[in-house]
Amino acid sequence: MKEAPITPALGSLIETEGSILDFSKAAVTHLVNLCAQRGVLVFPNQPMTLEEQAGFAHRLGEPLRFPNNPPSIPEELIKIRSGPKTKVAAGEGWHTDVSSEPCPPGLSMLRMEEVPESGGDTLFADMRQAFNLLSQPLQALLKTLSARHEPRGHYLFLSGVAAFEDLSVSDHPIVRIHPLTQEKALFVNDGFVARINGLSHRESQALLRLLYDHVAYTPAIQTRVRWEPNTVVFWDNRIVQHHAAFDYFPAERLGYRCTIMGEEPIGEAI
Ligand code: SIN
Repeated sequence: MKEAPITPALGSLIETEGSILDFSKAAVTHLVNLCAQRGVLVFPNQPMTLEEQAGFAHRLGEPLRFPNNPPSIPEELIKIRSGPKTKVAAGEGWHTDVSSEPCPPGLSMLRMEEVPESGGDTLFADMRQAFNLLSQPLQALLKTLSARHEPRGHYLFLSGVAAFEDLSVSDHPIVRIHPLTQEKALFVNDGFVARINGLSHRESQALLRLLYDHVAYTPAIQTRVRWEPNTVVFWDNRIVQHHAAFDYFPAERLGYRCTIMGEEPIGEAI
């Protein structure tokens, strides 16, 4: 694999001699480790069928299931489609995938089949740098806090497959430690977090707003992926947030994502 950084700390463009589907076990392990370091890996020119993508997901770990898929789409894949009838595109707004789960996803793998002539980029933000750029007193406070993640952005809730009450609500540390790199990352996102535990409603809202603005208004911690058909992108939800830019209406965009179960987020023992 030939790796070129997209920004110094976040994202790498990877050139491979062939298909990632032919990767050895060692190469898949290298991919997972590299994604833990770089946050986002972009592999251009990786054609594959839906079944092949679903099969590759199992090489990364335990994929989340999408039980409402039609028979033509494997349960391991979620279809991401926008077009002339779309009012809100999937993935708009900064978020981490399905963080309301007790063991929220580690890697996500998104492959595009159809892309607009221009636009439709995915933006990523590095939550390690987001944490590192905060002042020491705020870092120290955040390390003592946890946040409640609710399933309002859960794919099973949004697609009507499950009621809000039937899905998990989880408390996770606001600063989590990556199990492979031991790096600290801010772990709150506007798509799922309801409140910071132990603070008043006003304090919680103000602190969350500050953290979300810090992520959104700090371009130095962000990168942006431009898609071509058959681009495959992996990201590590433990250390990045993402945002799908819906700037291409009414053009079509079609891709398939698989999402790999992670582990219970661990904070620093205080
Ligand atoms: C998502 O996984 O949130 C969708 C990202 C995208 O469509 O670019």
